Amino acid sequence: AQAALNTLDGKAPLVIAHRGASGYLPEHTLGGYELAVKMGADYIEPDLQLTKDGQLVAMHDTSLLRTTNVADLYAKRNGGYNVSEFTLAEIKTLTVKPTGGLAATSYQGFTPSSADPYRVPTFQEVIDLAKSQSALTGRQIGLYPEAKQADPLMEDLILSTLVANGYKGSDKVFIQSFSADTVKSIHAKQQALGVDFQLVVLGSANAINNLGLANIAQYADGVGVSITSSGMGQSFIEAAHANQLKVHGYTFSKFDDTAKDQYLQWYGYGIDGVFSNYTDKALAARTEF
Ligand code: G3P
Ligand code: CA
Repeated sequence: AQAALNTLDGKAPLVIAHRGASGYLPEHTLGGYELAVKMGADYIEPDLQLTKDGQLVAMHDTSLLRTTNVADLYAKRNGGYNVSEFTLAEIKTLTVKPTGGLAATSYQGFTPSSADPYRVPTFQEVIDLAKSQSALTGRQIGLYPEAKQADPLMEDLILSTLVANGYKGSDKVFIQSFSADTVKSIHAKQQALGVDFQLVVLGSANAINNLGLANIAQYADGVGVSITSSGMGQSFIEAAHANQLKVHGYTFSKFDDTAKDQYLQWYGYGIDGVFSNYTDKALAARTEF
């Protein structure tokens, strides 16, 4: 790296594999996460939903419909296909399908180590992958779980699962939510547990400014901000840094020739991390920066 690093800690911006290597392989799958690690991601990002029997699974939507073949196998429950209406055992019978313009469940030169890489993984299975890949690569693969529901049970399970797996605040872990109240609640709960994972409040620049950067800094370590939101840019990042808050931008999803310029622009602004669907492109630009 040759350009000045204007990140809060002066280190290179983090490359967070948004939903896995989701530009290449089905999102929120062990195959997709492993490819992101192979590409060099610093963190893998599982969004989390709760099953009917209270298990955390990696999935963006509240519904199973968009990303799985649930409609082929099951009737609707209470009029829909929500994760919360299906047990983990049922969800484990589903296959995650390519979405968002993806054509296939393969990537040239990559063989997933899991025999069944395109099922809906539990949070524990994502952690197991991060741990095994950390051992294999000799670098800690970070975890960036998102509480998709403002649900005390979800807060408790995220924390207890991390603690049961031996994670501490000094490890590469960020917990994120669009709900500031959820982040506040996790902050209080983890203090009681004696752990201090880094916490991130998500939102548009306006939503974050309405909450107040100084206020957020009382209970969080950073903000995750939409890079297309009005008011997000270098000044916003500098204001957040003045409040000791890191800024991670979502979502870097360009694949065309302008992708590199987009990364370089935001790295130049001093962004502390990027949620990217294309880990390899984010890293290539970081190397060039
Ligand atoms: O968590 C950051 C980013 O992933 C937020 O957007 O909808 O992809 O979870 P979403
Ligand atoms: Ca997310």
